[in-house]
Amino acid sequence: MERTFSIIKPNAVAAGHTGKIIDSILERGFRIVAMRMVYMSRNTAAKFYAVHYGKEFYGRLLDFMSSGASVVMLLEREDAVNELRMLAGHTDPAQAEEGTLRRHFGESVTRNGIHAADGVENARREAALFFTEDDIMDAGYFPS
Ligand code: CMP
Repeated sequence: MERTFSIIKPNAVAAGHTGKIIDSILERGFRIVAMRMVYMSRNTAAKFYAVHYGKEFYGRLLDFMSSGASVVMLLEREDAVNELRMLAGHTDPAQAEEGTLRRHFGESVTRNGIHAADGVENARREAALFFTEDDIMDAGYFPS
């Protein structure tokens, strides 16, 4: 099993797409092992996107991510990172394939509906900004 980290971004939450996006993620075979609705501070957004510091879109991205509620999730399945990136689709919704979340729920490259971590190590770093060990449900927490 692998874990990845995802954010349903403020545009998708505000538009009422949270449930549909979570449904798609579950249908793809993910288990949600931690989830929370957050109103991200600009400071947390800056830490989260530190790798993009200095890029032309950095300020715009921070403004947007701290503009309203979003939903942060830690997700688990085999090949989780790749599977979620495929489900999310191209970063630019205009270039995202039919059937992907960004195609349906994205409005622009910044307001692209969902974030999907690009690797296991980044997923771990990103999740640590929002979850403690106590927030994470291991397999034993799900009665079969
Ligand atoms: P996300 O998956 O959250 O990871 C980084 C984000 O930066 C990305 O989605 C986009 O929202 C944003 N981003 C990446 N490249 C650009 C760009 N060229 N212009 C504007 N925003 C970008």
